[in-house]
Amino acid sequence: MTDHKQDQRDAARAEGPTTGPLTTDQGVAVDHTDDALAAGERGPTLMEDFHFREKLTRFDHERIPERVVHARGAGAYGYFEPYESCAEFTRAAFLQDPAVRTPVFVRFSTVQGPKGSADTVRDVRGFATKFYTSEGNYDLVGNNFPVFFIQDGIKFPDFVHAVKPEPDTDIPTGASAHDTLWDFVSLQPETLHAIMWLMSDRAIPRSYRMMQGFGVHTFRFVDTAGRGTFVKFHWNPKQGVHSLVWDEAQECQGRDPDFNRRDLWDSIAAGEYPEWELGVQLVPEEDEFAFDFDLLDATKIIPEEQVPVRPIGRMVLDRNPDNFFAETEQVAFHTANVVPGVDFTNDPLLQARNFSYLDTQLIRLGGPNFTQIPVNRPVAPVRTNQRDGYHQDALHTGTNYSPNSLGAGCPAVSGADGSAYTHYAQRVDGATIRRRSPSFQDHYSQTAMFWNSMADWEKEHIVQAFRFELGKVGALKVRSRTVDELAHVDLELARSVARGIGVPEPQDGVEPGRYKSSSPALSLEALRGGS
Ligand code: HEM
Repeated sequence: MTDHKQDQRDAARAEGPTTGPLTTDQGVAVDHTDDALAAGERGPTLMEDFHFREKLTRFDHERIPERVVHARGAGAYGYFEPYESCAEFTRAAFLQDPAVRTPVFVRFSTVQGPKGSADTVRDVRGFATKFYTSEGNYDLVGNNFPVFFIQDGIKFPDFVHAVKPEPDTDIPTGASAHDTLWDFVSLQPETLHAIMWLMSDRAIPRSYRMMQGFGVHTFRFVDTAGRGTFVKFHWNPKQGVHSLVWDEAQECQGRDPDFNRRDLWDSIAAGEYPEWELGVQLVPEEDEFAFDFDLLDATKIIPEEQVPVRPIGRMVLDRNPDNFFAETEQVAFHTANVVPGVDFTNDPLLQARNFSYLDTQLIRLGGPNFTQIPVNRPVAPVRTNQRDGYHQDALHTGTNYSPNSLGAGCPAVSGADGSAYTHYAQRVDGATIRRRSPSFQDHYSQTAMFWNSMADWEKEHIVQAFRFELGKVGALKVRSRTVDELAHVDLELARSVARGIGVPEPQDGVEPGRYKSSSPALSLEALRGGS
């Protein structure tokens, strides 16, 4: 089967140095690269040694900023193929024909640590997939948890500042845990559901090959008639879901900080190609308010008992990158990279992401032309009126404006044949307001559901994780406040944690797992009533 992405990589590789003598960047052959030109045997180094200066200058500029989050990662190429046509729900070309393989690049990552941190830390894992489709690049930028820590993207800088080390020392406060993270958690109960996942064994996966992936947000499929269907994406590993236990995770950090990256590389190099099934949960537009949570709230799952996951295709990763920097480091995922047939919803976290990724990549990758880097280049033809900028690699000719009656070759918009992206025609009403929707208020019911779904040994691991992490928080008020929040999830959980970290056990009086609206007109009901 033709792999257009591989053809593109081969072409890019051929552009680089192959055989022949060492040269400068200007192509001038170099006779000696071990000693700098000096005035006399033991004299000063001469400025005129352009090879020496170029060699050092290039070295001095080898680093680019690491990602502000998800800095440490590992990537691989592969392919995706649908099991059958999904035309009933989406017009996306890559989901129509089981005979069509779409090339992909996937990057797995940890979130909090810098580029040189250890793999097996307790953290969320990124699971980002770039599909090089015939209609352009589609990025499914997911995580290995199905829920996120915050509901509105305007809180993302606060959350990440709390998660990262202290500004003065660059060390987390407390003995080794984050006072600031737990302070944020205890004051922002919307974090609780994701925090339960973080304290569970899901946060220390044994292998990137053995993780689920989730799109997290509710997205929208759109069919040829313009009909929308809400969709949640799930990646399920054929290798099964496996985690380390905490002692193993810690030992791995000491013995092999590259434990997860090495495992992915080695298995692909050995021909043991990891595989995932892509599943979707589909909700008709008319059922938008059929749930006791808001579909736009990224701290909620859709329980599979209510909407089963429907398998729609499989992904296999079968090639390691040639060059870590060129490919895994420079790959640029963006939630707003969508293709016809996939659209957004008003999830306020997703809306923020749709701004943030391109914005950060403009600085991380040095300007607007990073889409020309081979790993980011679509296999679909690219014809734009964009020009110039740092690192422009293309030699454009002709005029570049629209409308345009003079310039031959100036691309016109494609309208009539229906191949272009058209945004979903969504009805919007209401007044401008800076307030979290009351339909996002329930932070406890699903958190309790997660806790109650755990086996006894899983619960024990969660309690131990809370004790380990919270037990290192210096501020006792933060420990207590977190325990008080846990009491809203499960009283025994809260008490077990309290006993391990030297704070008073919460007393009866809260009704765990039960959501009590602070607003009498819980707006989900209001929404259902159309008010
Ligand atoms: C990476 C922002 C929420 C998954 C990043 C990066 C930024 C960012 C700035 C670095 C990108 C780069 O330098 O190329 C945000 C904001 C969020 C948010 C503002 C919330 C408002 C999420 C959520 C998920 C997620 C909910 C998962 C569903 C990822 C992944 C990466 C990433 C997987 C790494 C991509 C890669 O491997 O290159 N995010 N993020 N993020 N984010 Fe988010």
